[in-house]
Amino acid sequence: MKVTYYGHSCFGLENNGTHILFDPFISPNELAKGKVDVEAIKADYMLLSHGHEDHVADAISIAKRTGAQVISNFEITTWLNGKGIENTHPMNLGGQVKLPFGKLKYVTAIHSSVLPDGTYGGNPGGFVLQFSDLCIYYAGDTALTMDMQLIEREFDVDHAFLPIGDNFTMGVDDAIAAAKMVKCSSIIAMHYDTFPYIKTDHGEARSKFEKAGLELKIMEIGSSLSL
Ligand code: NI
Ligand code: MN
Repeated sequence: MKVTYYGHSCFGLENNGTHILFDPFISPNELAKGKVDVEAIKADYMLLSHGHEDHVADAISIAKRTGAQVISNFEITTWLNGKGIENTHPMNLGGQVKLPFGKLKYVTAIHSSVLPDGTYGGNPGGFVLQFSDLCIYYAGDTALTMDMQLIEREFDVDHAFLPIGDNFTMGVDDAIAAAKMVKCSSIIAMHYDTFPYIKTDHGEARSKFEKAGLELKIMEIGSSLSL
């Protein structure tokens, strides 16, 4: 499994030739300028956690170029259908679906969701992806919530993508609590630094995770790693 960071909460996963893209916010992201070629991003599936601009800004253009199937809540896929994106798969919280790459579950996130044009964006969520060999939890924008215990009951999460930027989502301390709740020691940081409200001290974040016996990966924008 190869993971590439495109900035903010946008990641690409490549697993056995299948490309899965999360929450594309690239062209408006100053931090990604010159580091990511949005036209070169591959996607067979695009997973959108919720409707906020900083998660869907490039969704329509990438979906049109790649033909990727866009998976999100019913309200967001309906909105995309109205924008000419036909290849969509609607879900809602607690639902799961078997796809060629594995099992996908749309799980609770405590946040809000409205689309860039003011359309209601349904309930925000996160995703659990159960591949044949490993399990990924992508939390989306969320507060720490006891519902995360349900993930641990059902899945053996190997790697968790968690927001650490605070203010709009969990911060570092709550992300540590979330990692413990889902019993996952490999954390990939997201939703930090992009805006002044979520500027994050990387060294402090890393050392707090380390003290908790967890590994926090803070990826350079445009870089990849193997999971
Ligand atoms: Ni949000
Ligand atoms: Mn956000």
